[in-house]
Amino acid sequence: MRTYLNDNWQFFRDWKDSIFNSDGGEAVRLPHSHAIAPFNCFDEGIYQYVSGYKRNFRLADLAGKTYLLTFEGVAHQAEVFVNGKSVATHQCGYTAFTVDVTPHVHEGDNQLVVKVDSRKSLNQPPFGFVIDYQTYGGIYREVFLEEKTGVFVQDAFVKALPSKPVEIDVTLGNFTEPTQALLTIKNEHGVAFSANYPCENSHFAICADVKLDLWSVDEPNLYTLQISVGNDVYETKFGVRSAEFTKNGFFLNGKKLKIVGLNRHQSYPYVGYAMPESMQRLDAKILKEKLCVNAVRTSHYPQSQYFIDECDKLGLLVFTEIPGWQHIGDEEWKEVAKQNVREMIEQYRNHPSIILWGVRINESLDNDGLYSETNAIAHRLDPTRQTGGVRYLKHSHLLEDVYTFNDFNREGATDRKEVCASSVPYLVTEYNGHMYPTKSYDDVLHKLEHTLRYARMLDDVFAADTTSGAFGWCMFDYLTNSDFGSGDRICYHGVTDMFRNPKQAAGVFSAMGNRPFLDVTFSSELGDYPEAKVEGMYVLTNCDTVKLYKAGVYIRDFTHADSPFKHLPNPPILIDDMIGDRLTTEDGISRSGALKIKRCLADVHKYGLNNLPLRSKFAIARVMASEHLTMERVVQLYNKYESSWGSAANVITLEGFVDGKLVLTKNVGSMISYTLDVTPSATVLHENSTYDVAAVQIVVRDQYGNVCPYVNKAVTLKASGAIELIGDSVVALPGGMFGTYVKTTGVKGKGTLCVDDQTIEFVVE
Ligand code: GAL
Repeated sequence: MRTYLNDNWQFFRDWKDSIFNSDGGEAVRLPHSHAIAPFNCFDEGIYQYVSGYKRNFRLADLAGKTYLLTFEGVAHQAEVFVNGKSVATHQCGYTAFTVDVTPHVHEGDNQLVVKVDSRKSLNQPPFGFVIDYQTYGGIYREVFLEEKTGVFVQDAFVKALPSKPVEIDVTLGNFTEPTQALLTIKNEHGVAFSANYPCENSHFAICADVKLDLWSVDEPNLYTLQISVGNDVYETKFGVRSAEFTKNGFFLNGKKLKIVGLNRHQSYPYVGYAMPESMQRLDAKILKEKLCVNAVRTSHYPQSQYFIDECDKLGLLVFTEIPGWQHIGDEEWKEVAKQNVREMIEQYRNHPSIILWGVRINESLDNDGLYSETNAIAHRLDPTRQTGGVRYLKHSHLLEDVYTFNDFNREGATDRKEVCASSVPYLVTEYNGHMYPTKSYDDVLHKLEHTLRYARMLDDVFAADTTSGAFGWCMFDYLTNSDFGSGDRICYHGVTDMFRNPKQAAGVFSAMGNRPFLDVTFSSELGDYPEAKVEGMYVLTNCDTVKLYKAGVYIRDFTHADSPFKHLPNPPILIDDMIGDRLTTEDGISRSGALKIKRCLADVHKYGLNNLPLRSKFAIARVMASEHLTMERVVQLYNKYESSWGSAANVITLEGFVDGKLVLTKNVGSMISYTLDVTPSATVLHENSTYDVAAVQIVVRDQYGNVCPYVNKAVTLKASGAIELIGDSVVALPGGMFGTYVKTTGVKGKGTLCVDDQTIEFVVE
C-alpha cells in the first residue's frame, strides 16, 4: 500500500535543532521550492540555504510490516530523521532515494524531519565550479510511504528485446523462505502472458517466452508487468524495442532513424524545479506534439519519472545523464558521481524511451579513471543499453559506446571526421544555444538567423548519413547563474520562451511533424527591417504546396524544392519571387523580358536606385530597349512590385495544401487591432497525490492571429476560488507573449482566473 506524504509539511526557512520540538513553520505541500523567485533579475542565493521540513505520519498494527519511505527528489542534500534519529543522508538533487524506516517507527504518530541543504558549497555534482543553470532547492518532487507485509518485490529489471523472451531480474525484500511468484504481462487489450515461478532466493531471473508488439516512436506499445508474491503486487511498465547506435547511425528495432531532439532542463518560472505531475507530462507532450521532435536529452541530470513515463507513452526517445557541468571534484565528489550512475540506472532502466545513458559529467575533460568506472557500472547494471558521455572536445578518449559531442559551430554541422573515428557511433548532443541567444522580442532579422541556424545544422545532420542525429540547445529559455545569461539570469537559448511559447525557430521542428503547420519568417512592418528591405523570407511548413498571394493577387506556388536546404525533411521554403507571372499577364511583357526585369527590380531593391552597380544599369538599359520601356514605366513597375509601403499592398496570404487539399491559410499584414489569446493547458484540475497546476499561455495576436511582438503592455492576473496564482499578478508581454501558472489549493470546486477582462473557469476535482 502506498501513501503519499505530500501534504501537511511544516517548512522552516532556517535549519535549527529546535525544529524537532517546534510547532512553528510555514504550512507547505510538495513539490515545494526553497523560494518563489521573481521572473528574472534575482540572485540565485535566494534559495541556497539549509532548511527543515517536518510532518507526522500515523501507523497502526506494525507486526510483520516493512515501511519504505521514498523521496523522489530533494535538492540537493537530504538528511532524514525519523522520531528524532538520523536514518539516512542522500547526496543528489536529481535521483530518488528510499529509506527502510521499519526499525525506527512505532505505532501511533511518527515524526519525520528532513534537513535540506541546497547550497552550492556542497561537495557533490553538479557543484564545485560555475554551472550554466540554476540549481534551486527544496523537496521538489513527491514523497511516499509504502507498507509491505512479509515478502515483497524490491526491484524487477525488465529486459525486453525484439524476438527474444522477456527476461526479468527480480530482487525480493524480506525474503525468508522459498515461495512462488505469479508473473503477468498485460496491456489494455488484456493479459498476454501469465505464469507461476518458484522463488528460491532473494535474487532470481525469470523468462517469459511471449511475443509482444514492439515499442517505437510511432507506435509506443507499452505493457504492464505484474509480479504477485506473498501479499505484494508489484507493477512496472515496459516496452519491447532494440535501440542501437552504430558507426552508420542509430537504429530503432533494426530500422534507421535520424534522431531529431532538443535538450530539456526541468525548470519553470517562479518555482524552479517544483512542478507536479501534469506539468512534467506537459513538457513531453509539447516536445512530441507541438515541436514534433522524436527525442529529448534530459540535460544535465535525471528528471521526473512522470516526464519519462510520458515519453514512454508518447514514443519520445530519451538520452538521460548523471548530474554535472564541466567540473570534476575530489575523490569524495567522484564517489557521489558513481553513486549517481547507479541510482540513475536502477531507477530508470525499465523505461523503453531511454536509449542511452550519459555517464560523463557534461562537458568535462577526459578522466579515464573515473569514466572507466562509470562505464563499467552502467554496463553491469544494464547490459541492454549503450553509454555516451557529453564532451566538447574533438578526439577525446572514448570510453563510452557512442561519441556524444556538443557541436557549437556557427556554419552548420562540423564534419564528423574531424570529431571522432569513423568506426564509432556519433551523436550531436548540443548545438546553437549560446552561439545565438534569441529573445522573443528580438527583431525580425535576428529571429530569422536564429531560425536558419537550426535549419542549417539539421540539414547537415540529415546529409551526414552516419551521424545518429542531433539535440538542439534547447527546448526553452532557462534561468541561470550569474556567470551566464543575458544579465537578467536568463539564457535565451530556447526555441520556446520560459512559458513554452514557441519562438519562430520552433517552426523548423514543427514543420517536420504530421500536424498541419504553416508559418512565415516575414513581418509586413517594413520599418522593422534595416533600410526597410525584406531579407530572407522563408515559409516553415509541412504542407506540400504553398500558394502565395500579395494584396490578394496570386503570385505563384512554392514547394520544398524551393528550399536551399536539400536534406532536411520539409525544409524552410525560400520565397524569393513576389511577382510570379504578373509582368506577363498584367503588364504584357514577354516571358524572357519579365525574367530580366525581375532581376533588375531585385537589384534596385538590393542596392537602391542611386547606388546600382554598372552591370545592373546596363541590364536595365538593355531590357528597356528590348521591351520598349520608358524610365517612367520602369519606375512604375518598381513601385507596383517592389516598393511595398502601404498596408494593403503588403498583406501576404499563404495557402498550404496537402495532396491538393487546402489545410491551412495564413495572412500577414499590418496590425489593425489585437486581442489577448489566453490558453490554459487544462481547465479540469485534480487534487490527487498532491496539488495540480495548469500552465496558462498569454499571447497578443493581431486580427490575423499572428503574434504582435511589440505590444508590451501590462496585464493583470487574478485567481480566485479553488485555484491560486503562482508568480506575479501584473505581468508584461515581452515579444507579445508571456504566461502564468495556477495551482489548486487543496479544495475541490470552481476556480477562476481573470486575465485583464477575460475570465477562464477551472474545475478542481
Ligand atoms: C553548453 C552546455 C549547456 C549550455 C550550453 C549553452 O556548453 O553544455 O549546459 O550551457 O552550452 O549553449
